[in-house]
Amino acid sequence: MSDVPAQSVDFSRLHTFGLGGVARGLDFIRSPADLARYRKAYLDGQSLWLLGEGSNTVFLNPLSSRHLWVMAMKGRQFLGTWAGQHHLRVMAGENWHALVEWTVAMNWPGLENLALIPGSVGASPVQNIGAYGVELKDRVSAVHVYDLQNGEHGTLTLDECQFEYRDSVFKQQAAGRYVITAVDFALPVKWQPVLGYGDVTSQVQAFGEVSPLNVLKAICAVRTAKLPDPAVLGNAGSFFKNPVVCAAELNRLLSGHPNIVHYPAPNGQFKLAAGWMIEQAGLKGSREGGVGVYEKQALILVNHGHGSGSDLQALIKRIQETIQSRFGIHLEAEPNLIVD
Ligand code: EPU
Repeated sequence: MSDVPAQSVDFSRLHTFGLGGVARGLDFIRSPADLARYRKAYLDGQSLWLLGEGSNTVFLNPLSSRHLWVMAMKGRQFLGTWAGQHHLRVMAGENWHALVEWTVAMNWPGLENLALIPGSVGASPVQNIGAYGVELKDRVSAVHVYDLQNGEHGTLTLDECQFEYRDSVFKQQAAGRYVITAVDFALPVKWQPVLGYGDVTSQVQAFGEVSPLNVLKAICAVRTAKLPDPAVLGNAGSFFKNPVVCAAELNRLLSGHPNIVHYPAPNGQFKLAAGWMIEQAGLKGSREGGVGVYEKQALILVNHGHGSGSDLQALIKRIQETIQSRFGIHLEAEPNLIVD
């Protein structure tokens, strides 16, 4: 437990998992002057946490020592069309889904498979958000940052972002160093639908022709049917990463679990469906105090309304230990878990 917070800011509505508690303070970043204030707090060694819409952060400690800062820089700009791509610059505090809807309405498609992902534009590169066969890295050309170490504005190229499955430089070497201020998108003028997922294809067909709008509608329908709305049932999306294993490891697993769900991944590796493993282990729908495994999708943990950080820690531990002993696989939590 930390000291009693200075200003006791209730953080339950600042993160989509919705666990209750207070932090030491709250500020918003709306301007370059606010960025400079944030940097001063950083250089002073204050305990900070930068939030977008809180969909990938879970506050586990009800008395948090953090001073929270919310990225709220707004603006969306069309830069032009060149080299076969529409180019956009979007400020970090914009809502992700509103951006997806805008691009489809303006006839700059390419983001529609990423519809309804909760969160802000500025958070999207950190974990390289992805769904239904498209990842952010497929549509981003650069990320604009404010460097807390030297106070300078800079731009990271696609390569410099080091995007991987649910990973980037912002979670690795550069963790905590940059504030992402804007993201540049490059959307293909020659649109190609990405329809690899069974549910999505049949939903698009139900809406009619294969158009960006119908793909957007189909993704929304599939997600709404399967994933809980954080406004109704607190959650942070998929709670664990899908583990990536080598061929030898997959063969070991297949000998004991011939039906294990797996997909080819880059570099000759395979991605395992963590939701399948959690369901097979009998944990779907199980509860620990006020939190539990979602009844319709075992990769999602939910807050039934009265959950605590210790309930959630106990549930995470139970799931990780069960999957480790049954499959010999470690499940890595995907959201940022704030324990102080
Ligand atoms: N499965 C089960 N039981 C379950 C859940 C899943 O057997 O309770 C099986 C499914 O039948 C399917 C496989 O596991 O064969 C994969 O399930 P699903 O297609 O629902 O996808 P996922 O692996 O659970 C990932 C992403 C999601 C993304 C979907 C669709 C991660 C960590 N999660 O989930 O992203 O929307 O694919 O592309 O990669 C997120 O990151 O927050 C997120 C929601």
